[in-house]
Amino acid sequence: MKMAGSHTEAGGPETQSGEPLLGSYFVAAYPPFSQWTVAALDQYRHLLTQPSPLPKPVPLGLYVHIPFCTERCQYCYYLSYAGKTRNQIDAYLDALLAELAVYAQQPLLAGRMVDFVYLGGGTPSLLSPGRVVRLLRGLAQSFSWQAAREVTFECAPQTVNLPKLRELREAGVTRLSLGVQQLDDDVLARNGRSHSVRDVERAYAEIRQVAFDVVNIDLMVGMVGESDESVHRSLDRVVEWAPENVTIYQLEIPPNTPLYRAVGDRTLDGTLPSWEVKRGRLHQAFARLEAAGYTLRSAYTAVRDIDRHRFLYMEEQYRGSDLLGIGVSSFSYLNGVHQQNLAAFEPYMRSLRAGTLPLGRAYVLNDEERVVREFVLGLKLGRVEQAYFRDKFGVQVDRRFAEPLSRLSAEGWLTIDPTAITLTRQGLLRVDRMIPSFYLPAHRGVPYG
Ligand SMILES: C[S@@+](CC[C@H](N)C(=O)[O-])C[C@H]1O[C@@H](n2cnc3c(N)ncnc32)[C@H](O)[C@@H]1O
Ligand code: SF4
Repeated sequence: MKMAGSHTEAGGPETQSGEPLLGSYFVAAYPPFSQWTVAALDQYRHLLTQPSPLPKPVPLGLYVHIPFCTERCQYCYYLSYAGKTRNQIDAYLDALLAELAVYAQQPLLAGRMVDFVYLGGGTPSLLSPGRVVRLLRGLAQSFSWQAAREVTFECAPQTVNLPKLRELREAGVTRLSLGVQQLDDDVLARNGRSHSVRDVERAYAEIRQVAFDVVNIDLMVGMVGESDESVHRSLDRVVEWAPENVTIYQLEIPPNTPLYRAVGDRTLDGTLPSWEVKRGRLHQAFARLEAAGYTLRSAYTAVRDIDRHRFLYMEEQYRGSDLLGIGVSSFSYLNGVHQQNLAAFEPYMRSLRAGTLPLGRAYVLNDEERVVREFVLGLKLGRVEQAYFRDKFGVQVDRRFAEPLSRLSAEGWLTIDPTAITLTRQGLLRVDRMIPSFYLPAHRGVPYG
């Protein structure tokens, strides 16, 4: 699942539809990160000292960033390091525990229980079983997650083994997410994945020996060298395995990736599909999953059983829950204020060694911005209820967003009725492209990161 990235504006070759092949695509936050400032950190600090003003607090999620990988994939824009030593990894885990302990003492969060947890990366499964246990137990000492409805742990295939999986289950992990991307050795190699199809088969078989409530498989369309065939074959295998969740992203190529540079230098090892082709393949993939009994819960995730196999971390964030993000570069959203941590390893570590929160930049949303934020994130779930916005903000969204809504409805990308705004399938496939149409004028055309 995507968290804060430091990628920026689009550029480079364009496809037939005028969509730039390079640049950011996925909208993780509103207003865009480029608008967040160091100056706003004082208000974030002040907010933490105030008891929660909400009569009934919204659910609270916890995101924990583990920025370590065995190797860096060509397309990846997440903040992660290959080659950190064991000592550095241990020191980082200590820093995470220290950071959460500071938050646990803040009046704003006093007495709040964590409703959902996500350990993402990087590659959390790179941690040894002993480190995983130390981390999970340590975190739970600051914030009990006894009542958490979902605890997700991200894994890469080569780093999964049975003892580790058993420790994860024992420590309370309910949802295991495996990064697969595609089941084709040639495509995996061209994109710098350090695993083969056989590694995925072994990892998945071992995961199935441990009783996680939900197993998710991450796939991507748009990889270097992929074809209709390689995507179809991957889907066939995944449907055969029948994981509870399947998440599919369209590959984006932000400037901070080796792939971006390879396109610029013309050293690309194969061809890259256009956005039209990516959407076509995603459309086929979702249709294949639906034919196998899955239901789409968002623009990215299909679930096998709609009552039991939700992906709460994504759904709750898109519905206005609070989120506390810890770790280098993580971002939080607490009571209408965004904050992103320092986005480099050493400054993050130094700050916690000195006993201070590693704050990087923040943004205090006004009422109008909160409406836009919740509306655009809600669109990613495919449907926004009008009554929700009337009750929470006193805003009639079909009137508030009348102009972009009528334009996008004329394109055939959404429908408007008195109860809800509903995205059509074509709309859902390009939701991140549509979202900026709803931004306040001051945030249109600004850089992403
Ligand atoms: C942190 S990674 C998942 C765990 C593990 N590191 C792995 O790669 O197997 C989260 C997911 O983001 C997606 N992702 C990474 N880079 C992307 C990009 N440039 N465009 C679209 N999706 C991307 C991939 O599907 C990946 O599984
Ligand atoms: S393993 Fe995952 S986090 Fe690491 S570089 Fe590859 S996609 Fe990014």
